[in-house]
Amino acid sequence: MEREIVQTEDGSTTIHIKEWNENYHSKHGAIQEAQHVFIKNGLSLFPNQSLSILEIGFGTGLNSFITYLESKKMNQKINYTGVEAYPITDAELQAMNYVQELQAQDYQSVFDTMHDSIWGKETTIDSSFSLIKRQQFFEEIDDIEKFDLIYFDAFGYRVQPELWSTEIFQNMYNSLIDNGVLVTYAARGVVKRSMIEVGFTVEKLAGPPGKREMFRATKKSKAL
Ligand SMILES: C[S@@+](CC[C@H](N)C(=O)[O-])C[C@H]1O[C@@H](n2cnc3c(N)ncnc32)[C@H](O)[C@@H]1O
Repeated sequence: MEREIVQTEDGSTTIHIKEWNENYHSKHGAIQEAQHVFIKNGLSLFPNQSLSILEIGFGTGLNSFITYLESKKMNQKINYTGVEAYPITDAELQAMNYVQELQAQDYQSVFDTMHDSIWGKETTIDSSFSLIKRQQFFEEIDDIEKFDLIYFDAFGYRVQPELWSTEIFQNMYNSLIDNGVLVTYAARGVVKRSMIEVGFTVEKLAGPPGKREMFRATKKSKAL
């Protein structure tokens, strides 16, 4: 499908899929969305801890890069797994302005290493951050009780409803440890129902700028 680079309202870039009229990030601000949905309502629940994160849709690497930067402030040790079936091209990567927009020029090499790392091979970014990118379809994810936190960042229900199904959320649920958390920018009733059906406890939270709401789903440990 044809893709083009566009700028979002906070100045950060994203990729736009013409046929679907769908962006990789919110048109109201890619960085703002990532900070709100995945960092504020996800990563910040785990200060001073070691944690394993699964990202659904590695895409441009924005979420992994922001997670790296923020994890330093929160004294976290991260094992990061990014799943992606259709990696972006070098030209698309070169057009992304996240390092500049985040004023993270000192960490340019981290962003580059994240992208240069070989698919399927764990890469040590530094002593407290490791990354493995898996080129895989979301439908094939079959990890069991491995992750503390999932960034569920698939394209929207409007264009890929099959990725918001009970089958996918069952796999997400299975891949989390007890009390593990899934965060997503989505806030549709049909998505919430699928999450609840597989056992998640779902909270509706205020959304990022430009979006009213979002969901956080928790795998509550079962009472004995
Ligand atoms: C909303 S974008 C992810 C944006 C990404 N988190 C970022 O920060 O750039 C959704 C991603 O899911 C990928 N994707 C779409 N369908 C998929 C599938 N069935 N399995 C795996 N990846 C898929 C797309 O290639 C795209 O990179």
